[in-house]
Amino acid sequence: MAKEKILVIGASGQIGVELTLALRKIYGAANVVASDLREENELLKGSGPYVSLDVMNKEMLHVQVIRQNITQIYLLAAILSATGEKNPNLAWHLNMQGLLNVLDIAREEKLQKVYWPSSIAVFGPTSPKQLCPQQTIIEPITVYGISKYAGEFWCNYYHQRYGVDVRSIRYPGLISYKSAPGGGTTDYAVEIYSEALAEKKYKCFLKEDTYLPMMYMPDAIRATMELMHAPAENITVRTSYNISGMSFSPTEIAASIQKHIPEFKLSCVPDSRQKIADSWPQSIDDAVATKDWGWKPEYDLDKMTNDMLENLIKAQNEL
Ligand code: NAD
Ligand code: SER
Repeated sequence: MAKEKILVIGASGQIGVELTLALRKIYGAANVVASDLREENELLKGSGPYVSLDVMNKEMLHVQVIRQNITQIYLLAAILSATGEKNPNLAWHLNMQGLLNVLDIAREEKLQKVYWPSSIAVFGPTSPKQLCPQQTIIEPITVYGISKYAGEFWCNYYHQRYGVDVRSIRYPGLISYKSAPGGGTTDYAVEIYSEALAEKKYKCFLKEDTYLPMMYMPDAIRATMELMHAPAENITVRTSYNISGMSFSPTEIAASIQKHIPEFKLSCVPDSRQKIADSWPQSIDDAVATKDWGWKPEYDLDKMTNDMLENLIKAQNEL
């Protein structure tokens, strides 16, 4: 592997922690600098360099990139769908300006590569509900979705106009046990596991038959690595790739948990997040990602449930 020095921005978030640890395994701990607005992170402590950094402060970000001889940036700092609806201006500002700061610095410093995730939230009520294709009608209804769709076109623009090798995936809702989710509409599918273990019951904020595209974190991390390691000539999509993992409803995830905890009870009291969920597709067509860089998920719902519960119990026992 060529000598790389990577900066992860938003490293203390749900994806950032696991992506940082995975990158450190590949590139070496010292070559992956974790950064976040948060001062520190327990899960990253002792695993490699960590700096406190605000992606909105372009000057400071630029200084870090030069000082640390950074060659690649993974930009994960963002405000997600549900939190974004509470403060649309802030979500737009962070999600857009953070990306533009990184793209500008990548152009000026001729960085090797940039990674920036988009989301299924780009799709809206007029997009196909089933097997939503790579290219289709896209009319998002959340500020988060609007910022992701605009961001996709900025990535494409910086690639076409300035040759920045920026790559992107439209993640589905991500489920993980290490780091807590940060305010998305799909967060119920993370909370349900810890509540099932602790309380044997869970009150879901979405209706029981709400199907959404989801993915287990190990698949999401592997997809990110596979895309970033693919030869540049294979990357035909410079906006953002659809990828698919699984689709399920609250009833189905509860049934999967009941195979391990038969007394587990689900109740559903939808709140404002229902409208967001109803605007998204129920499943995703990822044929282009499969063709271009060989994407294939490993986890289905039951395989993920086994692994989630096993790891949450292990973590409890270690406390
Ligand atoms: P998260 O909210 O868990 O983490 C975001 C991190 O960014 C936090 O640690 C936060 O402190 C940090 N941050 C916020 N403002 C910052 C700033 N100004 N400067 C530096 N750091 C800042 O989010 P996540 O779930 O890890 O998502 C990471 C990326 O993946 C986002 O772009 C998100 O839109 C995308 N995504 C996530 C999901 C999901 O289900 N988690 C799905 C689709 C796309
Ligand atoms: N999981 C994210 C959210 O719900 C999707 O981008 O906001």
